[in-house]
Amino acid sequence: MTRKGIVLAGGSGSRLHPLTLSVSKQLMPVYDKPLIYYPLCTLLEAGIRDLLVITTPHDRAAFERLLGDGRQWGVSIAYAEQPRPEGIAQALLIGADFIAGEPVALVLGDNIFHGHGLAGLLRSAAARHSGATIFAYNVSDPGRYGVVSFDASGRAIELEEKPAQPRSSHAVTGLYFYDADAVALARTLRPSARGELEITDLNRAYLARGDLRVERLGPGFAWLDTGTHESLLDAANFINVMQARQGLQIACPEEIALAQGWIGAAEVEAMARRCQSSSYGRYLQALLARGGAA
Ligand code: G1P
Repeated sequence: MTRKGIVLAGGSGSRLHPLTLSVSKQLMPVYDKPLIYYPLCTLLEAGIRDLLVITTPHDRAAFERLLGDGRQWGVSIAYAEQPRPEGIAQALLIGADFIAGEPVALVLGDNIFHGHGLAGLLRSAAARHSGATIFAYNVSDPGRYGVVSFDASGRAIELEEKPAQPRSSHAVTGLYFYDADAVALARTLRPSARGELEITDLNRAYLARGDLRVERLGPGFAWLDTGTHESLLDAANFINVMQARQGLQIACPEEIALAQGWIGAAEVEAMARRCQSSSYGRYLQALLARGGAA
């Protein structure tokens, strides 16, 4: 059972400049919440309560102000720093002490996942004892991502990072579940041509061992990218449309924690008071009024 999770919120956010000249990308608003709430909630939905948030040294204090030590959600949040953007796989080395030889989930702080049945998929991935689980999603522009290709029987056969000529339209999303070998395998990686420890190389190592499971997220799921001004706005619009139509919050940590029994009404009430002038606070009030059920 994966009990530990890392949210990687480093990087310079250069594709969002000037927005991110003074504020971290993962703190950008996505409609009514900071971006990091979404991937954080993905880990909470997986049942993970022991969390490490990796930020740049410069942005760490802002994340600590926002997320604290996690007790408001009945979880534990620790912090570590990635001084330079030297690759996603480096998160496992930075987090080695935190991971302490256990399985670990890693999510990129700018990835948004949404869809019916997602929690079940996440929990199954977290329950696996050995190997790695990654998630593939069909996109119109695979060359911007890690790409996985499959053989005729649907088995993953190849992984490439941002290929000029993608062999499939299946992007690898920024959510990874690894067994207890991940840190040791990450230590064997060498920086790529762009000077980064590539997560795709780590996944290749699992593929070579025959230990990589690729879950396909079908068209019923949303996997949103927030890397550019346009995609950030698209994500905000998506969240607004869905929430307004259904009257349900996407990525509400208080709601998830309450449903799991990690916190009680008092903690939800406290956040509702802090946010009482916003629609988020009113949602929490309504959640309490209906006894916590969606
Ligand atoms: C990274 C990974 C890539 C993955 C993507 C998902 O790309 O290197 O394999 O598909 O995240 O968001 P980056 O965000 O560094 O461009």
